[in-house]
Amino acid sequence: MPGKTPIYLTTPIYYVNDDPHIGHAYTTLACDVLARFKRLDGFDVHFLTGTDEHGQKVDKAARAAGVDPQAFTDKVSGNFRALAEFMGCSNDDFIRTTEPRHIAASQAIWRAILANGHIYLGSYAGWYAVRDEAFYGESELTQGSAGQKIAPSGAEVEWVEEPSYFFRLSAWQEPLLTFYADNPDFIAPETRRNEVLSFVRGGLQDLSVSRTSFAWGVPVPDDPAHVMYVWLDALTNYITGVGYPDTKSDMFSKYWPANLHMVGKDILRFHAIYWPAFLMAAGLAPPKRVFAHGWWTNEGQKISKSVGNVISPYALVARYGLDPIRYFLLREVPFGNDGDFSHRALVMRLNSELANDFGNLVQRVLSMIARNCDAAVPEPGPHSEEDTQLLDSAGKLLVTLRRSMDAQSFHEGLEAIWAVVRAANVYVDRQAPWSLRKTDPARMQTVLYVLSEAIRHLAILTQPIMPGSAGRILDQLGVPETARTFNHLAICLEPGTKLPNPAPIFPRFVADAEQAAPAGTSGDGR
Ligand code: MSP
Repeated sequence: MPGKTPIYLTTPIYYVNDDPHIGHAYTTLACDVLARFKRLDGFDVHFLTGTDEHGQKVDKAARAAGVDPQAFTDKVSGNFRALAEFMGCSNDDFIRTTEPRHIAASQAIWRAILANGHIYLGSYAGWYAVRDEAFYGESELTQGSAGQKIAPSGAEVEWVEEPSYFFRLSAWQEPLLTFYADNPDFIAPETRRNEVLSFVRGGLQDLSVSRTSFAWGVPVPDDPAHVMYVWLDALTNYITGVGYPDTKSDMFSKYWPANLHMVGKDILRFHAIYWPAFLMAAGLAPPKRVFAHGWWTNEGQKISKSVGNVISPYALVARYGLDPIRYFLLREVPFGNDGDFSHRALVMRLNSELANDFGNLVQRVLSMIARNCDAAVPEPGPHSEEDTQLLDSAGKLLVTLRRSMDAQSFHEGLEAIWAVVRAANVYVDRQAPWSLRKTDPARMQTVLYVLSEAIRHLAILTQPIMPGSAGRILDQLGVPETARTFNHLAICLEPGTKLPNPAPIFPRFVADAEQAAPAGTSGDGR
C-alpha cells in the first residue's frame, strides 16, 4: 500500500527587530496544531519556522540598540526560538536567514532567475516603507497628520533613489492569473483570494529586488555593491529549509512544493504574488497553498509597542497555563477572521468549555471508576442504543476533523469535538451511573466503560491543541504513550487495566479581568 504523501508546513520567518508577542505565537501555534494533527494521522511532516534577519528594518533596530547587526540578530533570534519552544511548538527546524545555507540558497535562486532572463539592472526612484520592507506607488499613499506620506498599512514611507536590479514581475501577471485559476485552493480564505486576484488583474509593475544604500543583506552574486531585497531573501527560506539549491536531494524531492505557508493577512501579497512568480521564474514549483489568518487586537485596540498594549505570551501562560492559551487562541476566533483578545472572554471560555464541559466530564467519570470499579477499566456488558450513539459520534470525529484541519478551520474542528463532549455530559446525566451503583452495578460498569472510551477518543483527538492536558487524561486512562495515534482510536481500552489516581486537569479562573487567577479545579468528584 503506498504511504501517505509527506507534508511540509511553514510559518513566516519573523523580523528580529522586536520582542516576540502573541501575534507571532499565534501563527506558529496554528502551524503546530496542523503539524501535530498530521503526524498523529500517520503523515511524515516537516514543520519549519525561523527568523528574518536582513534588511533595513533590522539594521536600524541594531543601530538603535548600539550593537552590530550580527550580534543583535543572534540575540533576538534566540528569543523567537525560545518562544516557539515555550509555546510547545514541534517545529523540526528553525531557520535563520543569516546562516550560510540560506545565503547560498538565496544567491542560487537569484542566479536561476537571472539566467532565465527575469532580472535586469536599472535604477529605482520611488517610495519605500522600512517598517513593511515594501515599495509603494504614489497612488497608494495618503497624507499623515504631520504631512508625511503614509502607506496603506499605516507605515511611513521615505523617498528612495538608487541603482537597483529589477524582477520582471509585469511579465508574470498572466501566468499568475492562470496559476490561480488552475489552483483554486492556492489562496485562502476566499475573501483574501479575491483581493489578490483583483490586485493582480489591476496590473503588476516590475519589482526592485536589490538595494545599494545599506549593506545588511545577502550580496547580489557578482555585484556585491547590491544586497538582495529582503523579501526575495526571506521568501527563499522556505526552499532553503528543504535543501535548495540541491533540488535532487531527498529532502527537496520529498517536501517541495510546500503544502502550506501559514501567514498573517499583512503579508499575503508577498506570498501569493511575488513568491510564486519568483519560483516560476527560477523554474521551480510554487507552493500548494497560502492561508492568511486575521489579526488580534487587544481589548479592541490595535496591538502596538507605541500604544504599550503588547500581549506577552509569557505573561499569559504564567497566568492561565499553556494548553488553555493554545485552546483559546484557536477556539475564540474563526481562523481567518480578525479577533479581539480580552481576559473576560478568555476566562469565560476556559471556565465553561475546559473546566466545566471537558474537565468535569473527565473528573466525574474517572473518580467514579476509582471509587466503584477497583480503580481499573470497567468491564462492559451489552451496549444499549444510547451507548452506541455516543460511541459512534466519538468514532466519527476523525473524519470531520480531517476536513476541518485541511481547511485550516480550527474553530470548526473544536466545535465538533465539543459537541461530543457535551453529548457525553448529557449521557452521564441521563444514565446516572451513581444511581446504578446500587440498582444495577453491571450496567454501571458498562456506562463507565462507554464514557471512558468516549473520553479516550476526545483526549487522543485534542492532543494537537493541548498536548500536555490530553496526555495527562490519557495517562489517567492507562493508555500507553505508544497507543495514542489516530490509528489507535480503533483499539479499545482493556477492561481490568489498573488506573492511577485521577487528578483534575483544567483549572477554573475568577472572572475579574485584573485578578484572573486559578479559583480551584474542575470536577465535582462524585
Ligand atoms: N519577516 C516578515 C515575514 C517574512 S516570511 C518570508 C514579517 N515578519 S513579522 O515579524 O512582522 O511577522 C509578521 C507575522 O506575525 C504576521 O504575518 C502574523 O503571522 C504575525 N503577527 C504579528 N502581529 C500579529 C497580530 N497582532 N495578530 C496576529 N498575527 C500577527 O512580516
